[in-house]
Amino acid sequence: MRRPYIAGNWKMNLTPSEGAEYAKKLGEAVKNAGVDCRVMIAPSFVSLPAVSEAVKGTGITVAAQNMANHLSGAYTGEVSPEMLKDIGINDVILGHSERRQYYGETDEIINSKVLLAISLKMEVVLCVGETLEEREEGKLEEILERQLRVGLKDVLPEEMPRITIAYEPVWAIGTGRTATPEDADAAHKFIRETVASIYSEDIANNLIIQYGGSVKPGNIRALMEKENIDGALVGGASLKLEDFLPIITYSK
Ligand code: PGA
Repeated sequence: MRRPYIAGNWKMNLTPSEGAEYAKKLGEAVKNAGVDCRVMIAPSFVSLPAVSEAVKGTGITVAAQNMANHLSGAYTGEVSPEMLKDIGINDVILGHSERRQYYGETDEIINSKVLLAISLKMEVVLCVGETLEEREEGKLEEILERQLRVGLKDVLPEEMPRITIAYEPVWAIGTGRTATPEDADAAHKFIRETVASIYSEDIANNLIIQYGGSVKPGNIRALMEKENIDGALVGGASLKLEDFLPIITYSK
């Protein structure tokens, strides 16, 4: 059984004090609602301590949105996974399309981050997804396969339970254009088959695959009903309790 996993990627939004205030309300709401799925929120680096403190005891996981591919050293402006671990952060989103698009992160760089996080026993949400141009050129499967094969290179089968895949078609992120549940499910199925071919059917069947891209209270249920969709990575709609709570309580 794959436990539904819903994550909120706050991106570069909410100051530490705003984030902590919101996280406190979210934590209380999650406790009161008796949410069944796993819930994660990913604030910016500087908000991690205040937000972690705010959700203590609620079962909500707090993750980083990125990390360096080095443990320490002369890398001005970077944040090491050891620093994250030291403040109690054990989860990280890697390879988000905004990191790929705006900060030049290649599959190889992302793979080095994945391996480093895994070596520190962290849990990773690895993002993959095609641009509109790639989809229109019929390259969806080619792109996903490359992002998976390179992104997961040298990750051992026994380490795969610590990897979640987030399928985020770039054209659906922040645009209000959601992939149809059918299109998303087809891409998720392809991701599962690719993971089965790299690892095994068993590993693929246990793999949690989140969908991301304009997920809202109004479309979460139809997405989650699909066989291969096990959760969501939510951007804009994770920033307010009135949007995020109905998403994480979609099954109620
Ligand atoms: P969105 O972002 O929900 O605002 O489209 C999703 C994401 O980029 O993780």
